[in-house]
Amino acid sequence: MKLIVDNITDETGDIRSFRLVSPDGAALPQYEPGAHIDVTGPTGVMRQYSLCGPLDDVHAYTIAVKKETASRGGSAALHDAVRIGSVLEVGVPRNLFALDAGAREHVLFGAGIGVTPLLSMAYRLLAQGGNFTLHYFARAREYAAFADLLDAPPFAGKVRFHYGVRGADMAHYLQACLDAADPQAHVYTCGPAPFMDAVVACAARSRPEEAIHLEHFKAVETASSAPGGDGDAAFDIRLASSGKVMQVPPGVSIVDVLSQAGICIDTSCREGICGTCVVPLLEGEPDHRDNCLSKKEKAANDQICTCVSRARSGLLVLDL
Ligand code: FES
Repeated sequence: MKLIVDNITDETGDIRSFRLVSPDGAALPQYEPGAHIDVTGPTGVMRQYSLCGPLDDVHAYTIAVKKETASRGGSAALHDAVRIGSVLEVGVPRNLFALDAGAREHVLFGAGIGVTPLLSMAYRLLAQGGNFTLHYFARAREYAAFADLLDAPPFAGKVRFHYGVRGADMAHYLQACLDAADPQAHVYTCGPAPFMDAVVACAARSRPEEAIHLEHFKAVETASSAPGGDGDAAFDIRLASSGKVMQVPPGVSIVDVLSQAGICIDTSCREGICGTCVVPLLEGEPDHRDNCLSKKEKAANDQICTCVSRARSGLLVLDL
């Protein structure tokens, strides 16, 4: 979709929100809380951003973008070159970070710009009368995007702000937050990797994996994720429909081998975080190297992220 920027708001010194609408004013495809969209900026760089506007704002998508100091053309271009009236190319919403409909309580932990998908969840839970608390960690209030919104009705009382918590004290704070919740409550987290790791470590002491939900927006290196690294050996893939077998050499992705054979799989991030390239798997043991499938999905071994994952067995049979 090509959408027009109809509003820009400076949420903090380095976080700016953009409201995007259709040129003809039509309603946009709906999404569930936690969903994100691909946004291609003026430099042609595509990035994923969580949708964080009110869910009843059906004519717009709102995203918030932090200007990264080490930006490779994604966030900096959106801050520096995009104005009201600019046109951005946007993908349809995808959701890898959904609320669990069966949970009777939800505890949301966001840090910094990681609050954005949780804001969308908070809108939905408020509308449903759901039982939830959003814990929002930031260096100080001036760094906390949407702090005024979250500090006022209808969010007031549902959001706890934690400013300036030092790394050494984080586990203690997180434990206190969890102690205040039902032991059955589901936990959701988004933010810098060390923060999410701390939340997961703390929550895992009292909850099963299925009750802990997280979303990565940057690829996390796994032990064998670097091409040529440990376990990066050649293997074969077979297409279930035609029986055609192809070899995936070291350092080449499954999706590239398929592409060379004329089979195009949609991709977006090519880093194992967006889930666009996931395909069904019928046989073989995958070496999951992505950050988009959940642990449960990985354990099922019935789908594979073809841009980064490889094989532990000599052959994978893809349902293609
Ligand atoms: S293209 Fe994003 S996970 Fe593969």
